[in-house]
Amino acid sequence: MKFSTIGWTGLAVAAASLLRGARAEGALNFCLGVKHADGSCKYTDDYLADFEALAPYSSVVRTYSTSDCNTLQYLMPALAQSSHNFQAIIGVWPTDDSHYALEKSALIQYLQQYGTDHVKGVTVGSEVLYRGDLTASELANRMNEVRQLLKDNGFNLPVGTADSWNLWVDGGSDPVIDASDFFMSNAFSYWQGQDTSNMTNSFLDDTMQAMGRIQARKGTSDISFYVGETGWPTGGPSYGSAVASTDVAAKFYKEALCGIRSWGVDIFYFEAFDEPWKGTDSGVEPYFGAMDSNRNLKFDLSC
Ligand SMILES: *[C@@H]1O[C@H](CO)[C@@H](O)[C@H](O)[C@H]1NC(C)=O
Repeated sequence: MKFSTIGWTGLAVAAASLLRGARAEGALNFCLGVKHADGSCKYTDDYLADFEALAPYSSVVRTYSTSDCNTLQYLMPALAQSSHNFQAIIGVWPTDDSHYALEKSALIQYLQQYGTDHVKGVTVGSEVLYRGDLTASELANRMNEVRQLLKDNGFNLPVGTADSWNLWVDGGSDPVIDASDFFMSNAFSYWQGQDTSNMTNSFLDDTMQAMGRIQARKGTSDISFYVGETGWPTGGPSYGSAVASTDVAAKFYKEALCGIRSWGVDIFYFEAFDEPWKGTDSGVEPYFGAMDSNRNLKFDLSC
């Protein structure tokens, strides 16, 4: 099935048949930064406050590194202590070699210390193929290596990675599909310069293409698939016809993200909180939060 040739209504029908069966509404999960507004690293109390703010909307977050900012050292106790019973998909950064070695040892050290009750899975890398940091087979090897390391230490956790939707569609990524227990497809209509009339269609089309390609490769519609990152900046410059504003972010959320959630797909909103430390020189980067850096909600997250 080629989703790019059919309209939004057609997509809804296609998705309904792909996701046949009474699936609950897809969950709203969040990508979580590990730094304060000033760029210093968060501690356990900060993560506890993050969970408090996110709890009305969500119970799953994802992070990108085990050792940067000592993420697991401070996140794992927060996961264990929080009364909101959060789970995390924790990221291992696979480059460069010395960083990767640190990442693997922090992963095992803190899983041994805190267990896996609050860990839903492990990602190896984020947009590795998009940036060309590793080839698909190099990334697949590292994913298999992390899976084996987990097993060798008695942990049975699914291993996946997140990459841009078009990389999943690209047949060159098949070694990564084969090495994945779950899949995260990132799609930002903002970075495709889409205006409000086409941003929803574009997001749904991209995401369904990624899902369809993975299902075809795996030979089953029964895959564990997430939108790994999506969102819209509420400030900073426009990109093509895409305007960075709270109104457009709210509309993108309501139409595109509530749309895909209604088809049973879990999403990770990028991101939970604004990250002012990234600086205005980075354009829209500081402004992707669903909440500002003081944890105030910017727009309605109900569907
Ligand atoms: C609208 O989105 C569709 C699906 O991604 C895309 O094929 C088309 O080029 C977009 N239209 C414009 C004007 O960008």
